[in-house]
Amino acid sequence: MTTGRQAAGRRVTYQLETLWDYDYEPTHHELEMLYETAKKNQWNASTAIDWSRPVGTQGPVLNVQLAFGGTNFFSRLTPAEQKEVEIRVSAWRLSQFLHGEQGALVVCGQLVNSIPELDAKLYTSTQVVDEGRHVEVFERYVKKLHEIYPVDPLLKGLLDEILATNLWELKLLGMQMIIEGLAIAAFNLMRKQTADPTLADVLDYVLQDEGRHVNFGYFALRRSIPGLTPDKRELLEEFTFKACDLMYARDERTGFQSIKTVWREMGWDGDKIWRDTVASSATTKAFNSFLFQENLMPRLQRLGLISERVAPRYREIGLLN
Ligand SMILES: [Fe+2]
Ligand SMILES: [Fe+2]
Repeated sequence: MTTGRQAAGRRVTYQLETLWDYDYEPTHHELEMLYETAKKNQWNASTAIDWSRPVGTQGPVLNVQLAFGGTNFFSRLTPAEQKEVEIRVSAWRLSQFLHGEQGALVVCGQLVNSIPELDAKLYTSTQVVDEGRHVEVFERYVKKLHEIYPVDPLLKGLLDEILATNLWELKLLGMQMIIEGLAIAAFNLMRKQTADPTLADVLDYVLQDEGRHVNFGYFALRRSIPGLTPDKRELLEEFTFKACDLMYARDERTGFQSIKTVWREMGWDGDKIWRDTVASSATTKAFNSFLFQENLMPRLQRLGLISERVAPRYREIGLLN
């Protein structure tokens, strides 16, 4: 049964401006190749992946030693508890992937309307189909594995803000650069930590599409940022800092805290395990360094979004030297 609160949480109200492009003149030459690749590399999730294999029998869905090695709690687990952690943590992670993909699907649908140039609209139309397929594969996998966990409040907050803004430049930045960047980091990490061939196939296929999505975001932002008014630019800088600050897991205020649900289901102290994993798990270190140091920060700097005005705040939280 859906309660009033759940119904309210499901609804996002916004005003969306649709822009027509009657010029029919190509504007982004880089997009021609991306659009061609997007059409050529479409895949059918029902047939490209062999769904007949039982999940987690040919190899662990999550290599828990790789994921949680180095933490205090992990060294004390029995084999049965390790297996339970493998299934529940995987289902929680994949549920967040699923909700994020649904977010990408709906935001990308908005971008088709609101982005001003036709060649960008055509490219984003292919991404809508990509994101639909990603929803399909993660839903299918997580249902085979265990159950769907609720959307993490941090992820939901960011997605709702991106959906609700009437600034297409903020949608582009929020979805195509920040959320897509987050997704690529999380999918890559899961890919390294899984030995289940079905999940490995799902992630390989999805990652191929996501690489294109982030490239589109970078090209389109590189073109639109220089023309922004100072207040719009400031707005983009503020959103970027807020998102980075929240996604950079380091204390009780930051990161995807809803993983604590899993620890509580195991009968453990969620806050204690959170502190333990954030301080010492290989996963947190690998995720933060892949997302921020290797990908997001260099791109944001090249786009001019880490201005002198906001740079001290990044330094303060340790994301910038
Ligand atoms: Fe996706
Ligand atoms: Fe995507």
